[in-house]
Order: sequence, then C-alpha cells, then structure tokens
Amino acid sequence: MTSGTLHTRAPSSPTAAKARFWDKIARKYAADPVADMAAYEATLARTRALLGPAHRVLEIGCGTGTTALRLGPSCGRLVGTDVSAEMIAIARERLAAAPQPNLEFQVADADAPEFGQARHDAVLAFNVLHLVSDLDAALTAALNALAPGGLFISKTPCIADMNPLLGKVLLPVMRLLGKAPPVLSFRASELQAALTRHDLEILAVEYHGTRGKDRRPFIVARKRGPASG
Ligand SMILES: C[S@@+](CC[C@H](N)C(=O)[O-])C[C@H]1O[C@@H](n2cnc3c(N)ncnc32)[C@H](O)[C@@H]1O
Repeated sequence: MTSGTLHTRAPSSPTAAKARFWDKIARKYAADPVADMAAYEATLARTRALLGPAHRVLEIGCGTGTTALRLGPSCGRLVGTDVSAEMIAIARERLAAAPQPNLEFQVADADAPEFGQARHDAVLAFNVLHLVSDLDAALTAALNALAPGGLFISKTPCIADMNPLLGKVLLPVMRLLGKAPPVLSFRASELQAALTRHDLEILAVEYHGTRGKDRRPFIVARKRGPASG
C-alpha cells in the first residue's frame, strides 16, 4: 500500500466523526495498561509465528502502535493504520523513539472501500472489527488489500456473546454520555459467518484470555487462492 491509496478525511466527513471519540481519548488510551497481559503476549506470540521475514503486513485500527511495534521485527514490512490522527501521532512518536525502518503509520478508515488495492500477505485487525461502521465494508476493504492465500488475523470482542446488559444498557448509556464509541454487537458465530461469506477459509479460532470467560476470539483465516510465497 502507498500513501496515495489511503483515505484522507475532510473535517466534517463521517470519518472525522468516527475519529473524534478516539482522538479525544488517545493519550489516556496510550497510558492505560493492557488488561490481560498474559493473553496479549499469547496473541502476539501466535501472530508472530504466522508471519514471515518477507511478509508485507497491514494492520487496521492499530491505535497507538503497541502491537505493530512488537511485531515489526517479525515481518518484512508493516503499515499500521487507524482512523484517529491522534492515535497515529502517538504511534509515530513511539516509532521515532525506537526506529524500525520497515514500519510505518498512516491515518486510514477501515470502512473505506478505497482502503487499498495493494497486495499484503497478512491483514491484522485487533480490537477493531466491532468498531467499524459496516462490518461487510471493512471486510471488503481488508480483503482487497490481501493477496490470494494471505492471512486475515483478528481478535474481536463479540459483544452479543457477553452479558446482555452490556450491549443493551451499559454501552448505549455510555455512548449517550460520550464515554463509549458506537459499537457493532455480534456473536462469534456471526463474525465467523461474515468471514466465510467473504470467501475466507477459517483456519483457527482460539481464546487466549486468562481472566474469566473470554469473548474475544482470535481468528486466523486465509483468503482463498494460491499463496504468494
Ligand atoms: C480499542 S482500540 C484498539 C487499538 C489496538 N488495535 C489494540 O488492540 O490495542 C480501537 C482502535 O480502532 C480505531 N478505529 C475505530 N474505528 C475505526 C475505523 N473505522 N477505521 C480504522 N480504525 C478505527 C480507533 O481509533 C482505535 O485506535
């Protein structure tokens, strides 16, 4: 992917509206500790094992770049993207403090169909598929960016599998108060069905959580077609 293919946003565009919540909380998000560090490390190790030194990797919803910075040394090139310019600013600050020449951060909306026609060997989507406006549009954009045989790797909170009060009461109230973004509520089974509908072959569904019942499946899926090698 080149910068020229990335979605830029006008101040009043729907993309700008999506970014507003995350722009506001970006510095706090950066300072917050990872809730389940053992699960996070397991996810990183599993992802790392799926990447190769020549792989061109795209991460959508990369936030402050924590995961991209950890995975950069395990692949050929990694472009971390996020709808929030503030999140990307922090990711770039972190990259500047510990440079990795194969790593780059760009503002981009995962919902936008022009997201990229480039050929990536892997697309990573961690904690973001429940936040896009349209799951099918985001999957179409991700699949466009992926080479045949490439891997789509995601870990996504499946809110419809959680306590119903969360999706039906707590999140809507928090949203009214400006304390939560709009979210999509789907079950893990519905997410898997969506991936299959987009012609992805699901290779693995795992749960890495170490605290209580984990509702964030780590899914590895392959875009059908011959691998690029
Ligand atoms: C919960 S954070 C997860 C960040 C990181 N992937 C992680 O696991 O820590 C969600 C991120 O998704 C981004 N995001 C939300 N909607 C997006 C969209 N439509 N396109 C790209 N990024 C989006 C937010 O700006 C935020 O940085």
